[in-house]
This record gives sequence, C-alpha cells and structure tokens, in this order.
Amino acid sequence: MKQRLLAFAALPLMLASLSQAVAADAPAKPTITIALDQTKAKIDPKFYGLMTEEINFAYEGGLYGELLRNRTIKGEEGIAYRADNPIYWSPVGAGTVGIDWAYPLNDIQHISLAVDASKAAPGHAVGVANTGYWGVPARPNTTYTASFFAHAEGDAGPIKLAIVSDGGETLASATVTGVGPKWKRFEVTLHTGAVAPSKANHFTLTTETPAKLWLQQVSLFGPTYHNRANGLRPDLMEKLAAMKPAFIRLPGGNYLEGDTFGQRFDWKATLGPLEQRPGHRSPWNYWSTDGMGLLEMLDWCEDLKAEPVLAVFAGYALNGQHVDTAKDLEPFIQDALDEIEYVTGDASTKWGARRVADGHPAPFPLHYVEIGNEDFFDNSGSYDVRFKAFYSAIKAKYPNLQLISTAALSATPSQRPDMLDEHFYAFKGETETYARVHEYDNRSRAEPKVFVGEWASHDGWRMPTLRAALADAAYLTGLERNADLVIMNAYAPLLANLSHSGGPAKDNSVQWAPNLIGYDALRNYGTPSYHVLQMFGAGRGDAVLASEGANVPDFTAEGKTFPALYWVATKRTSDGHVQLKLVNRSGSAQPIHVVLRGAHNVADTGTLTVLAGKDPGDSNSLDQPELIAPKRQTVHGLSRDFVQTVPAYSVSLLDFAAR
Ligand code: AHR
Repeated sequence: MKQRLLAFAALPLMLASLSQAVAADAPAKPTITIALDQTKAKIDPKFYGLMTEEINFAYEGGLYGELLRNRTIKGEEGIAYRADNPIYWSPVGAGTVGIDWAYPLNDIQHISLAVDASKAAPGHAVGVANTGYWGVPARPNTTYTASFFAHAEGDAGPIKLAIVSDGGETLASATVTGVGPKWKRFEVTLHTGAVAPSKANHFTLTTETPAKLWLQQVSLFGPTYHNRANGLRPDLMEKLAAMKPAFIRLPGGNYLEGDTFGQRFDWKATLGPLEQRPGHRSPWNYWSTDGMGLLEMLDWCEDLKAEPVLAVFAGYALNGQHVDTAKDLEPFIQDALDEIEYVTGDASTKWGARRVADGHPAPFPLHYVEIGNEDFFDNSGSYDVRFKAFYSAIKAKYPNLQLISTAALSATPSQRPDMLDEHFYAFKGETETYARVHEYDNRSRAEPKVFVGEWASHDGWRMPTLRAALADAAYLTGLERNADLVIMNAYAPLLANLSHSGGPAKDNSVQWAPNLIGYDALRNYGTPSYHVLQMFGAGRGDAVLASEGANVPDFTAEGKTFPALYWVATKRTSDGHVQLKLVNRSGSAQPIHVVLRGAHNVADTGTLTVLAGKDPGDSNSLDQPELIAPKRQTVHGLSRDFVQTVPAYSVSLLDFAAR
C-alpha cells in the first residue's frame, strides 16, 4: 500500500537550534537527530551472514537430514576399532549385533554391522535398532526414505524397516526382499499416517526368517529442503532463510583445522557417493560421516541465496602442529587451489569437471577466501610464512579474490591481507560487549577491511538470554555505524542440538554455549539473539546515515556504567526507506524524540518491529519457543520531528519512508 507522505516546506534546521527546541519541550527526553542528507558509510550487501561448522551436532544430528546415528558403524573417535562395540545400534528380539571386519563393503567402509538373527521366527522378529540423534522424529502423513547396503549368509527372507515408538507402536514401515550373499544397496519409502508429531521413537531393521546379515550405511531421511537428495532439515533451513544471510563462512572454525592435520576438514574426502566418504573426527569430540561434505555446503549456500566465504586449511592444526616453510606448504596450497577450482571452475578444469560430475554443472560464486582459522593462536610465528605463501599462490591464479587473514595485521608483516577476520566473544557477559560497541569508531581506515567472523555476547548457559540479545543488538549498531570498515559479520556458533546437554562430556550434545538456534529431533526455536539478527538482517539498509544523540540515559551493571540507549539509522536507496534500530537496555519504557534533519517528506506511517521482555534474564526454549519474539505493528504520526516510545529491555526496528 502506498504510504501517505507529509510534505513540509523546505526548512533547513540547524542541529543547535533543534537541540534547544527539544530542551525547551522535554529536557530529559533522549533525542536522536538523524541527518537524512548525510551518508556516513555504504553498507556492503554481504554485511550479514552465517558462521558454521560441525559443533553442537550442528550438521550430524542437526541441519544434515540423516536421522540415524552412526550410519557408517565407525562410532566416535575410533571406538569402532574395538570390534565389539557398534555404538548406537542395539539388538531387537533374540538377536546379537557386533562389528565384522571380514567382508567389508569397500576399503573405506572397512567394517560392517553383523546381525545374528538366526533365532528369528514368525511372530518373533529379530534385528537391530537405532535411536537416532536422541530420538527419531515422526511427523504425520510424511514420507521417509530408508536405505542400506546389506549381504547375508545365503538368501535372507523379507526384511522389515520401521519407525517404531518407544512404546512399541509401528508408525511407518516397509519391506524389502532380495538380500543375498553379495553386497547390494536397497532403498524403500516409509509413510506415516495421521500420527501425532513425536521424537520418542527408534528405527528398526528386522526379519522373522532366520538369517545372518551384514549392514553398512543404514540411513533414514525425512523430507529435505528443496527436496534435495542427501539434503537438509527443512525447519532449520526455514529459520536460516528468514535471516536472509548473504554469505556462509564454511567449514569452520576449529572444524576446518582439526585437532591434528589428519583430522582437518579434508574436502576431497567429503565428495562423491556417501559410501566412499571415510568420515573424520570433529575437534568437538564426535564423528562426522562427512555426509555434509563440501558440495552439500555449497548447495546449502545456493538454497539460501548466500555466497560461500571459503576457509582453506592453511597448515596449522589445533594441537599446534604447523608447517614452517613455503616448500613444505606446497601440497596444502595445491589443495586450496584445487578447492577454489572445484567451487568456481568450469567443466574444462580438472576440479570444475569433478564438481560437474558430482551433480552441480554451474560454478558457485566466490569472492572471499579465508586462509586458516584463528591463526592468532599460532605462537610459533609461522603464520607470516604460511599466509604469504597461500596469498601469493591464490592471487596469482585468482587475482579478484579477496584474501582474509585470521590474525592481527602485525602477524603478517611480509604480506598485507586484503581483509582481517576478527573474533569477539564477550565471555564475561554484557558489560564486555557494551565496552566494545565503539571499538571500530576510531580504527584507522588505512587498515584492511574487517570481517567480524565470529562474535557473541555470553549470558545464559546453553543459549543466550534477552540480556545477551540486547548487548548483541547494541554491538550490531556499532558494526553498522562502521560499515565503511567492517564489511561483514557473523554470530557464532549458529546451531545447537539441545537434546542431551549439561550431562557428562561424553555424548553431550552441546560443546559450546551459548548458540543462536536450538533444536532437538523434532522442534526448534530462535533465541532472542536470533531474533535480533533476523530483524537486523531483514531490515538492512545500504547506507548509514549520520546521527547524534542527546540526553542519553545510563545504566549500571557489575559496577560499570554504560549508555542505556543505542541506535543506528540507515536508508535503503532503492525505495527511500529509513531503518532506525533502537536498543533500550534500561528497565523502563523510553520515549525517544527523533528529529530528521534534511528531510523534505516523511511518511506519516511506518512499521515498528519490537523484541522485548519483562526480565533480561529470560530466554526462549524448546518448551517456550516464542516467549521473547518480535512483534510488528503499524505506527502513525511520524514526521520530521516525532516521539517514539520503546519498551523496557527492547530492540526496535522502525522502518518508514523519508526523502
Ligand atoms: O565458535 C566456536 C569456536 O570459537 C570456533 O570453532 C573457533 O574458531 C573459535 O575459537
């Protein structure tokens, strides 16, 4: 609907006289004066994005659509090598399960799940069960795809695959026949009827005919986003899509590096048929099947209309193992060049052709490559040599790529980076964040552009509270105001499976807290910080407007005093809309006097989106997913000079047309 514009006579007002007028009206009221005619910085379209890695069961047991745990039978951290322990698989009926080494599916899946069902009989099913990632979801009228490789001693009888409630009710099932002495792949669909959504279920593979079976790659997928085979969980993808991320930094984080060189994200080993992927241990202490390999990550970017920010392994692992000389770096540099070719090359190139063969003919867009991760931890000083060697080789072949350093500028004296990836976690809580809101205001613009590749305010154990979200929003106003220097940012970590956290380290589903989006096998929710990111990401402008405040109140926490009001004003040039983001950290509602300098026409009506809560210690949860959620309303009475009241403990986004 076309908004009504109020026309004003062109009346150039000086800031000083405005302040006097305001002071006469209501001396204590905070005033924000926005210069509509004064652009302070352009905002990069890539300003808001996502940081991801395999942490907190973000992919396995999270975004990646596989519903069964330990598909490859390899267990966690090499547990599979103890031949008696097929973890997450248990016998059904009078059977036994174990690990078999004698007749592997291939060199990569070198073990299989041996199921002795010789005591099976009609009415006495015997087989194996898997409890998924803390439950197997069942939704009404939904199709599931089960698949597996199997062989048997002789010819086996019919095999039943089922999703079964933990109370014993079969919710969906299907039967396959033809399992014989040679390895063969089977696939079948299972359909639920009008069942209630649930996760207290498990998956079973059973027979009522005596048999000895060997299994590999036993898999169950529900529907996936955009119906991709080997795809992603739709509800989580919808949450991410709502953030409108412009980029995804992948594949980490520590997950890029691994605890050792042998446990790095070895992208070539994550390509091709699933049964050809060896998998590897994540530095976050659990096994990745690498079903979520490089191509799946790129598809993920494509589905979200985001661009990858590709982090390449740079010869440094978390245990301090590193490469010191350019000569010894050569294989790793070649690997990075191959990886960039896989992402961007056409079919005439070796690795571009491999991507085409893997099912994605079109190259992916790529503008940013990050060399390593958090190399400021490398006390050996090797990053200077490593960064220069990678930079020179990548620039020689791909001069248009922007190459990002992961250490301070002083760490790479031999080669100036195009950009710096800086990380900021407010481990000490909100006051640490408020102290950093103005961090970039005075940084020399002669320094490289900044990507704040990981940041978060810590308040709340597994997931952030409203208090953290308010600090996050304040921090973002600081980043947006400095958008000429800080051109991209991403909160971290993004995803956490909350099914089994807070218990013993082993089998704990959360390794890092807090996180942005929480879920279990069935449900999910966005934290208050998620809503802040979603509001800011969706309500982004392309230019920062100059603004200044007066009469800004304070608040005190942990004996420190900070301003209680934060804001940033931006505009979207395409349609002349202004976005005013306001953060009120105080415990009382705050009327704010807003003055638009240099405006000729201001719409009377705007859209106000408010995220607020009664107690800053509150958060959302799986049981109360919407306790703190943004509410949208239409507001009237906007003009070149208006008062907008914002609630206590709130983040607001006011969007209106102004010229
Ligand atoms: O976001 C969690 C971890 O924090 C990342 O893996 C690492 O880069 C940082 O230390």
